[in-house]
Amino acid sequence: MIKKYQGRKNEKSTLKTKNKEEKKMTVLQKTGLAYYDAHYPHHNRPLWMNFLKLVRKMKPDVFVFGGDNMNMDAVDHWMEDHKKVRQMEGKRVLAEYEGFKKEMLNPLEKALPKGCRKIWLDGNHEAWMELAIDKNPNGEGYWEVENNLHLKERGWETYKYGEYAKVGKILFIHGQYTNQGHAKKTVNVYEKNVVYGHDHAPQLFTKITPVENEPHTGMSLPCGCEMNPHFMRNRPHAWVNGFLVFYFTKKIFSLFPVTSIFDGKFIAPSGKRY
Ligand SMILES: [Fe+2]
Repeated sequence: MIKKYQGRKNEKSTLKTKNKEEKKMTVLQKTGLAYYDAHYPHHNRPLWMNFLKLVRKMKPDVFVFGGDNMNMDAVDHWMEDHKKVRQMEGKRVLAEYEGFKKEMLNPLEKALPKGCRKIWLDGNHEAWMELAIDKNPNGEGYWEVENNLHLKERGWETYKYGEYAKVGKILFIHGQYTNQGHAKKTVNVYEKNVVYGHDHAPQLFTKITPVENEPHTGMSLPCGCEMNPHFMRNRPHAWVNGFLVFYFTKKIFSLFPVTSIFDGKFIAPSGKRY
């Protein structure tokens, strides 16, 4: 049956409902930023300084510090196992924690708006600290991330390596697969929308299940560390510097990975240059 034209009155009321819906969505829409694999003190300093400017500008509702935030040079088990005594010289657990607070954590917390949900993920490098304590139990009570950074007291939600944080429809993990198709592997294992780092290189894979056609996206993020830190020993790799800007509601989300190719400079999704 063809519906009879009801005139401008109905059009107006449809428009009104639509605007109301859009307004409701905008109210519920939130902004997030995620920064992965900084590997302090091997972080890309110019990028970090520019990123802080973006944090101040965007005032995110959620911030995800995605793991390998610190490199944990003082307990580098590879260096220890290979008896690299010279490279280990002068590395101290306490100095690394203090440096990280001064250069990264304190300025970040100052830049984040009040009420921002702060999510801290341990990466495999933070997990090294537990391995070091297993080897040297004298460090128990002194060397742990929590006992030095006091993240919970600072208002951070903290997640151990392997755990996930949920933000709307997205799971944030540090990441664990390093095969060529790591995004595909991650989606196949989690069967959810997953954002992760660990590989230091962007990658995207989407799978749509036949059940209710629900799509699951896996996105690997660029990293916040130097491109050739000592532990890479000049090996070739596919790393890219950058971070993630994302917007989300309860039901939908959009992910905008931002890459920085030169000297820590980047163009934000808004088009503003940093
Ligand atoms: Fe990493």
